[in-house]
Amino acid sequence: MSLKPDIIQLPKVLDKRGNLSFFEHPRQLPFSIARTYWIYDVPGGETRGGHAFKVQQEFIVALSGSFDVVLHDGEKEQVFSLNRSYYGLYVPQMYWRHMENFSTNSLALIVSDRAYDASDYIRDFVEYKRLKND
Ligand code: TYD
Repeated sequence: MSLKPDIIQLPKVLDKRGNLSFFEHPRQLPFSIARTYWIYDVPGGETRGGHAFKVQQEFIVALSGSFDVVLHDGEKEQVFSLNRSYYGLYVPQMYWRHMENFSTNSLALIVSDRAYDASDYIRDFVEYKRLKND
């Protein structure tokens, strides 16, 4: 089965005291969470990422502000603009990705199905394309 990137809408519990959203496996997320990290205080014009993962999958939410996630599947590029905290982007393994256009005070929440493993990174785009097309 070849998994595809997808926007996942999250439940919204609207409340005049303030709204609430959440995700959990298996109802919203297709994987169970092993790790959570977040990217913040990104200076204007900076780019994060620029790699693919061999096995890990991720789910990315703009908890605050906005940014773009640019995915490349080895043939074409797709841009996902994230700007609300009630949806996120599912990124399967083996998609080259970077994040850009961070707004001031944006906060990117990322959950993964794997613990941090430097050996899971592919940091060379040519190598990525070779592995992807194998
Ligand atoms: P990295 O994923 O390379 O960030 P980016 O792709 O945006 O450049 O991570 C940057 C550094 O943070 C790297 O030295 C490894 C470390 N790191 C961890 O120790 N644990 C983690 O869960 C993550 C995501 C990164």
